[in-house]
Amino acid sequence: MSVDVLLGLQWGDEGKGKIVDFLADKYDFIARYQGGPNAGHTIYLNGDKFVLHTIPSGIFHDKIGNIIGNGVVINPITLLAEIKNLEAAGVDVRTRLFIAKKASLILPTHIELDKASEQKRGDAKIGSTLRGISPAYMDRTGRNAVKIGEIFSNNFQDKYESLRDKHIEMITSMGYTTDLSKEKEWLESLEILKAYTFIDCEQFVNDKLKSGKKILAEGAQGAMLDIDYGTYPFVTSSNTIAGGVCAGLGVAPQKIKEVYGITKAYCTRVGSGPFPTELHDDIGEKLRKEGGEFGATTGRPRRCGWIDFVALRYACMLNGVTKLCITKIDVLNNFDKIGYCNQYRTHSGATADMPSYLTDDIKPEVEFVNGWNTNIEVGSEFSSLNDNVKNYVALLERNIGVKANLVSVGPGRDELFELA
Ligand code: GDP
Ligand code: IMO
Ligand code: MG
Repeated sequence: MSVDVLLGLQWGDEGKGKIVDFLADKYDFIARYQGGPNAGHTIYLNGDKFVLHTIPSGIFHDKIGNIIGNGVVINPITLLAEIKNLEAAGVDVRTRLFIAKKASLILPTHIELDKASEQKRGDAKIGSTLRGISPAYMDRTGRNAVKIGEIFSNNFQDKYESLRDKHIEMITSMGYTTDLSKEKEWLESLEILKAYTFIDCEQFVNDKLKSGKKILAEGAQGAMLDIDYGTYPFVTSSNTIAGGVCAGLGVAPQKIKEVYGITKAYCTRVGSGPFPTELHDDIGEKLRKEGGEFGATTGRPRRCGWIDFVALRYACMLNGVTKLCITKIDVLNNFDKIGYCNQYRTHSGATADMPSYLTDDIKPEVEFVNGWNTNIEVGSEFSSLNDNVKNYVALLERNIGVKANLVSVGPGRDELFELA
């Protein structure tokens, strides 16, 4: 069978967790292929809120396996805390979770390095989540990483200590001291995690596909945070786009079928970096308030602005999106006018395509449509909704160039409309 992919088309937090949870029953496995605990995927279940950082968003479903793939970076403390939280809520994590042996570990000193590097950058800081993501990926590509599967080998402690000591030297040379207070808990967490299931991800995934199983690859972050195609250097340190799935899980490109691309009905970004349609006024503040736009991982207020079709077309091109999912359209319920950007103004004229570099002098051309000023009732037919809601969805489809498959109107599992 095939692998479908679900990923964010903006700067993250598009509502991936909610949509994966909704789609999960159509699949046998949900698999994270990149990123780490910088992600925060929120799911509401019977009024309870869960935020998943490392565990895939299919974990609440009976009989569905959840894979943490090779391309993911794991902090055992965060992973164990997530597991405990889920187990306390009655979720049978033991039988549902599969951890790739080749996933790389985030050491406590990676977090210290992340902090030191951000401090050194001063005003030019990336605004990272301070979860050690960039240093962990640097060690992975630098061929120094400790893989989680190595916890079963005799020389694990030596490998860990040698990488830790190297990090301490680096931090000292940057003029900072290293806080090692988390080391004990980190090592203890790994001991406890040994009781869970570890897999050769590439073998496991391909065996399952051969036996007819369906897999949904769950992206973290979003296309505009991709290490190669995002707003570099204000990006994360992994390939968030669909191309990352093959490397992150060990599957061949022909195995990939549908690509679900998720966008909010407006746009947000957390951390530093360009964001052409950002609103620094009362409307931006209203979007933040109505949308509850505060980071699921760090609690930071998210920057808010109108939807950006230039960036979305670019993201769809990179990912080959076949199914568009629009989330948080209900957040626009009380806006008289809704803005959108179809092209940028640059020093060499207007462009509808993404420039090589998004610099501060590139400005969005914002146009407006009428809002609907009414609540959207779930349970009714999409066709019976207010015309301005339907017109707005049609505007997105037309300008992004992909048909809408799901339109989400609330945080709950069933607060959405399934279209085509
Ligand atoms: P993710 O990282 O892409 O999974 O998204 P986050 O969980 O970080 O942020 C999305 C937020 O929007 C969460 O608080 C969700 O509960 C919420 N959410 C998702 N879909 C909708 C929707 O259609 N309407 C509203 N109002 N909230 C939504
Ligand atoms: P989900 O999966 C939103 C942002 C950070 C920062 C940049 C680099 O919930 O959509 P990092 O810690 O990765 O080195 O930070 O990327 N960032 C996210 N923004 N949602 C996320 O994940 C993010 N993960 C990282 O804010 O700007
Ligand atoms: Mg998030």
